[in-house]
Amino acid sequence: MQTLMFKKSSEEKKLLKSKLPLGTHYSFRIPWEARQVYFTHARKSRIWDVDGNEHLDLFGKFGANILGHNLPQYNEALIDALGQVSAANLGVIDRTAVELICDCVPCAEMVRFSLSGTEAVLNALRLARAYTGRNKFVRFEGHYHGNADNLMGGRAGPKANPAPEEFEGDFYGTGGKATDIAQHQSFLIPWNDIERLQHLVETKGHEIAAILMEPININGGGRHPAPGYLKAVRALCDRHGIVLIFDEVITGFRLGLGGAQDMLGVTPDLTTLGKAMSGGAVPVSAVAGRRKIMSLIESRKVSHGGTFNGYQLGLAAVIATLSYLRSNPQSLYGNMIDHMRLCQDHLRSEGQAYGIPLSITGEPACSVFSYAPTQADEAPDPKAQFFRANAVKLIGEAMAEKGVLLSNLNRLYGNVSLESEDVDLFRERTTQAFEKVAAFAARFKA
Ligand SMILES: Cc1ncc(COP(=O)(O)O)c(C=O)c1O
Repeated sequence: MQTLMFKKSSEEKKLLKSKLPLGTHYSFRIPWEARQVYFTHARKSRIWDVDGNEHLDLFGKFGANILGHNLPQYNEALIDALGQVSAANLGVIDRTAVELICDCVPCAEMVRFSLSGTEAVLNALRLARAYTGRNKFVRFEGHYHGNADNLMGGRAGPKANPAPEEFEGDFYGTGGKATDIAQHQSFLIPWNDIERLQHLVETKGHEIAAILMEPININGGGRHPAPGYLKAVRALCDRHGIVLIFDEVITGFRLGLGGAQDMLGVTPDLTTLGKAMSGGAVPVSAVAGRRKIMSLIESRKVSHGGTFNGYQLGLAAVIATLSYLRSNPQSLYGNMIDHMRLCQDHLRSEGQAYGIPLSITGEPACSVFSYAPTQADEAPDPKAQFFRANAVKLIGEAMAEKGVLLSNLNRLYGNVSLESEDVDLFRERTTQAFEKVAAFAARFKA
């Protein structure tokens, strides 16, 4: 069994941690939180760390890396762009970037760029407020929209007035949030419950500017909308003059060129894009949508700022990414989906073999595994109880130890460069990881 050594990474962490809190750039749980690994170079789906270990990268920078590492066409486009202009407020490539997005994304009639997904969501909300003259928006439990006080955390409040409620252990909970900002600005209810949403809109619709959701809720466990749910939400928004915003920061250009809205056949008024849109090396996000709303920027009723909006290197990355994906979408996305399905099958069957049943949800391009309770688990069986609480963490950490990088412990992000050798490596290392996890199960033998 292969054992990876992380000596130099441990030293690196010690040195970095004294000046970079946690020695990393995020506070969210990631598979190598316990053992942070520092990378030096990468190619396609493989990435090497400072100790020389080779990892399979299904972390993909939280889903941004759609192309795989070091795609020559992408690199050359970025280097060319740097040779043209370092910093300019407008360039001759801008129109190409905008047209590509409008050609691909169903709701996109106009586009404005920013850097992070968070910013794009905040800009979309500002547009919705200005368009409707209302202040509040609706969020859903388990949906994540970014690192801003009014967007993060909470759980559904009471039916009559579902202001978000804070709770102990909230995954995205943080100190330092502006007091009551989420409560002041938003309602938070369970997703996929159309009656609950109907009730809210019928009683509070006059206050609601926007309904904001991930059309497939990857952050909440890879949940799909219930049959008819999105269409019913669309109709509700039309009836009550509410702006429907699909946050496609994960799903945009990852599920296909048209994202989840194309796949599911429901078109929002506005959508937010980020991550995969610029291929992973540089950040670009955008809000895109209906002309009647986006043109509030044109009439100067809504202001949109940002020093680096539409920066040339970023737009070159958008053009390179979307042009590459559009060059052969069926083959590229099909390849990613096929390889990820094989990985999922192996994961599921290893879980089965070791008595740790897993369910895998979401889409092959971005899936989430979790412990799937069975009938037998309802009995007070200590082993089942242990795995119910710990399976995801143990598996995610064991996979990272064996050199398979996942995102958020249990999320798998594929990329279009995946090859059959990557699936072979995934199988081999996942089996090793499960052998390690199974050692925990042995504790519970009678
Ligand atoms: C659906 C969704 N929206 C928005 C964001 C925020 O994007 P960023 O981290 O680029 O600010 C994320 C980040 O993971 C996300 O998953």
